[in-house]
Amino acid sequence: MGIGQFAGALTCPVCGSVLAFEPGRAACPRRHSFDIARQGYLNLLNGPQPKNADTWAMLAARGRVHDAGLFDPVADAVAAAVSGARTILEAGAGTAHYLARCLDAGVGLDARKGLALDVSTAAARVAAKRPRVAAVVADVWKTLPLADAGFDAVLCVFAPRNLAEFARVLRPGGRLIAVTPNPGHLAAVRSAHALLAIPADKGAALERPPFELVDAVAVRYAVPLSRAQVADLIAMGPNAFHHPPANTLAVEDHVDVTVWTLERR
Ligand SMILES: C[S@@+](CC[C@H](N)C(=O)[O-])C[C@H]1O[C@@H](n2cnc3c(N)ncnc32)[C@H](O)[C@@H]1O
Ligand SMILES: [Zn+2]
Repeated sequence: MGIGQFAGALTCPVCGSVLAFEPGRAACPRRHSFDIARQGYLNLLNGPQPKNADTWAMLAARGRVHDAGLFDPVADAVAAAVSGARTILEAGAGTAHYLARCLDAGVGLDARKGLALDVSTAAARVAAKRPRVAAVVADVWKTLPLADAGFDAVLCVFAPRNLAEFARVLRPGGRLIAVTPNPGHLAAVRSAHALLAIPADKGAALERPPFELVDAVAVRYAVPLSRAQVADLIAMGPNAFHHPPANTLAVEDHVDVTVWTLERR
C-alpha cells in the first residue's frame, strides 16, 4: 500500500496543487518534486526540521512505554471515539501508536486507512512500518499538505493542534479526537524528579466553530511504574530536551487525561 494510497489527498507544500505519484517520488503539475524515502514516507516539510522534533531516543522510549500497555485504556478510548471513520489522519503522530490502534479496532474494517503526520523524519520512518499506515513529514503549524475534506477523523494525542487546518482537512460531519493531559497526569513522576510541570492545556478551547463538542471523557487510572518505565516516560517527552534526571525512582502514579470528541460542522 504505502503513501500511494493517499494519491489525490496530498498537496504540494510549495504551490498547493495535488501531487501525482510516480515510482519513487511525488510531483505536482508545476514540477515541484518530492522523493519518497526508501523507508516509504514522503517528506513534504520543504525546509529544515525544527529542534523540537522527536528524536530516535524519544521514539524508542515511547515505543517501550506503549508496548508495556501503560496507555492502552487511552488508546481504547480513542479507538472508540473514531467510530465508523475510514480515513484517519493522526497529527503529531510520533510512532503512530494511536492511529494503528484505530485501524486495528473493530471487525470488517479492512477499508480503513491512516496517514501519520509528524515534523520528525525519525517518527515518519517508524510510523511508515505499520500496516495500513502511510507517513508524511510536515509541520502542523503550516498549511498542511493535504487536500480539503479528505479525512473522516483527525487524531491529535499529546500533540500540537492547528484547529483551522484540522477543520479544513476534515469532511463536514468528520471528527476531531484530541487527548490532553489533566493536572494529575503522571504527577508523582514529575514531583519525584523535579520535572517540567504540565502546561495548562485548555482542551476546552477546542469547542469553537466549526467544531461542536460530542463528548469529553476523563480517563484516569493507576499505573505502578518501575524505575526503567519512569526513565522512559521522562525520556519520551519534553523533559528529554531539558535536564533529565540521572537516576529515577519507581513510583505509583496515575494516567489522567481527557479524550475529547468534536464534530466538524
Ligand atoms: C508528545 S509527542 C506525541 C506523539 C504521539 N501522538 C503519541 O502520543 O504517542 C508529540 C509529537 O508531536 C510532534 N511535533 C512537534 N511539533 C510538531 C509540529 N510543529 N508539526 C508536526 N508534529 C510536531 C513531535 O515530533 C512528536 O512526535
Ligand atoms: Zn507545486
